[in-house]
Amino acid sequence: MSAGTLLPLLHPLLGALAVCAVFFVGLRGLRSRRPRPDAAASRAFHRRYAPAALGLVGLSWLGGISSVALLREDLDPAGSWHFVVASTVLTVMVGLWLRSPERTGHAPRAVAQHVAAGFFTMLAAILTATLGLGLLP
Ligand code: HEM
Ligand code: HEM
Repeated sequence: MSAGTLLPLLHPLLGALAVCAVFFVGLRGLRSRRPRPDAAASRAFHRRYAPAALGLVGLSWLGGISSVALLREDLDPAGSWHFVVASTVLTVMVGLWLRSPERTGHAPRAVAQHVAAGFFTMLAAILTATLGLGLLP
């Protein structure tokens, strides 16, 4: 296989990793609210790795737009539903970071917003991957 065939696949692979990371850290966050023996460990895991999931989504966003601009003459930059939903995921995740329960002093209203927006992000991340399948070379 040539570099021209393989390079456009780098973004989908990193993107798939990012989607899995969002889903996994989100799940651990949700699990931390259940009365389970591992709730505290789940919360610590979530607090530690959620920023990494945000980093992967940010890198995937940059990789995706670069990939379209530099490698995919058949696609227009910022011209897909995948772009719209992926950008929404990134924006909401930055919001989750800025308004994390830690930063808002665990105010009940802010925590409820964090959880609802986080759940929305998990669903939107799956939609991002589904729409990405339609762009594969
Ligand atoms: C959260 C993870 C992801 C983010 C933030 C993301 C972001 C983006 C962005 C911003 C673009 C440019 C779109 C445009 O200009 O219209 C793009 C392109 C693309 N994305 Fe994603 N994406 C993610 C996950 C995925 C996944 C899981 C797949 C595969 C199933 C995928 C497949 C593609 C493909 C095929 C392209 C065209 C560029 C290329 O062939 O490399 N993406 N992505
Ligand atoms: C991916 C979707 C996400 C979901 C579903 C989610 C969900 C949750 C849940 C359920 C909690 C526990 C709230 C409580 O009962 O006090 C929580 C706490 C927290 N989340 Fe998220 N979250 C997400 C993304 C993020 C992101 C992107 C960040 C930061 C980059 C983040 C940072 C935090 C922090 C710092 C806490 C407080 C942990 C503690 O109390 O020690 N979360 N999240």
